[in-house]
Amino acid sequence: MSAAREHFGSRLGFILAAAGSAVGIGNLVAFPVAATKSGGGAFLLIYALFVIFICLPVMMAELALGRRTDKDPVGAYRELSGGSKLWQIPGWLALITPFMIAVFYLVVTVWVLGYLVSTLTGNLDALATEAYFGQFINSPTVFAYLVVLMLIINGILALGVKDGIERAAKTLMPMLFVMLIALVIFVLTQENAMLGVQYYLIPDFSKLTPEVLSKAMAQAFFSLSLGMGILITYGSYMKAHQSVPSSAKVVALTDTLVAFTAGLLILPTIFHFNPQIDPTELSDSSAGMIFLFLPKIFLAMQDNIGYFGASAFAAVFFFLVLVAAITSLVSIIEVPVATLRDERGMDRRKAIYTIGAIQIVLAIFCAVSFGMVQWFTEFVTLAGANKSFFDLVEIIFYDTILPLNGLLVCLFVIYRWKKSNFDKELQDGDASFAGSFSQRYVNFSLGTFIPVILALIFINTVALKFFGISFF
Ligand code: TRP
Repeated sequence: MSAAREHFGSRLGFILAAAGSAVGIGNLVAFPVAATKSGGGAFLLIYALFVIFICLPVMMAELALGRRTDKDPVGAYRELSGGSKLWQIPGWLALITPFMIAVFYLVVTVWVLGYLVSTLTGNLDALATEAYFGQFINSPTVFAYLVVLMLIINGILALGVKDGIERAAKTLMPMLFVMLIALVIFVLTQENAMLGVQYYLIPDFSKLTPEVLSKAMAQAFFSLSLGMGILITYGSYMKAHQSVPSSAKVVALTDTLVAFTAGLLILPTIFHFNPQIDPTELSDSSAGMIFLFLPKIFLAMQDNIGYFGASAFAAVFFFLVLVAAITSLVSIIEVPVATLRDERGMDRRKAIYTIGAIQIVLAIFCAVSFGMVQWFTEFVTLAGANKSFFDLVEIIFYDTILPLNGLLVCLFVIYRWKKSNFDKELQDGDASFAGSFSQRYVNFSLGTFIPVILALIFINTVALKFFGISFF
């Protein structure tokens, strides 16, 4: 079986695919808004430190697990634990987590697709009205968009690692960079743009509360696709002897640069529209920003560039978000696909049909969680508040289980697989890593404070989301 394993064709292909996974809706919207509200440059600095000192070692650990075993997450944990029953658990968690995250992310991406189509058909004015979002997400058209989106993503996956995932990344990622930079250049030439840049960049260290720190940490961790089994899976498709440490650095840097650059787009756009705006009032949620707030801003641009120009700007923006979301969805759905292939011996096509069939049902449950079906809309009560099925999936898998998965990766690599084996894997293809400061740092941090930090985040999230208790 392993002789036939697919691999990425080039180092660049792997890097673009992994960066495509990491760059998502959160990079483009949630990150810039969080930074602006939470200390500007001070937040950016802290975020960068978290990426370098906490996330990068975890990323190396996941990639090394995959590259060493040439397997999906379940297989990787099984093989390196010598078949231990207990260590099957993180393997299965690293399967179910991406599976369920994909479900709610599909629904949000469906909305982006819908907004793109509406903009292209000349309806930006309708998008900018208060009532549109609620009507749109509760209209039957979302099911049609869901089918279209699933066809695109599963179509890419069906072509395989090299001809599907890698080729899509090599086409879509350069497109994403160009669109992002073009939008930034345009918006920076507009009136009041520099006000937005100031809010985004001027540091205010007094805003760095424990809550902000934990938010920055969570954002960095999620943004880099950690804890989702994706990097284990993509690691297994790396070419032999491709350096894990330096690839991880390039992927993390790309992801962070895209997030940073998105701030140079979002903030100036907002301030151009309303120089008096108080950034603390901006919505925390990506969805709130993309679907409720930004369309109004895009429409207001018509005073300068006309309705057509404003629609074109909005369309490029929605397309940018869509591309970012599609490359993330491809990577996350590849995890269960790889698992069914490796563990059950299914062929790629059958695995895709199996996963797709279950996911579309669950995605429909999420899509009707906004009022279409009462039972899903008021699915559970958590910490005294009503939560829909969609909310529940997000809370359990995105907020809670990700840090737990990260914690288990650290413990597994250092204490079960063992440092010396991990080191050997990192040195394979990167001789200079042996004995370096980075190596000592990665070994030490993964075995000590990184798991502690992830455990604290996990405990805090459980307390907050399920019991309404806040430690910070
Ligand atoms: N960076 C993504 C975002 O900001 C988060 C993410 C990483 C993700 N990998 C993913 C989301 C895979 C969905 C699928 O949205």
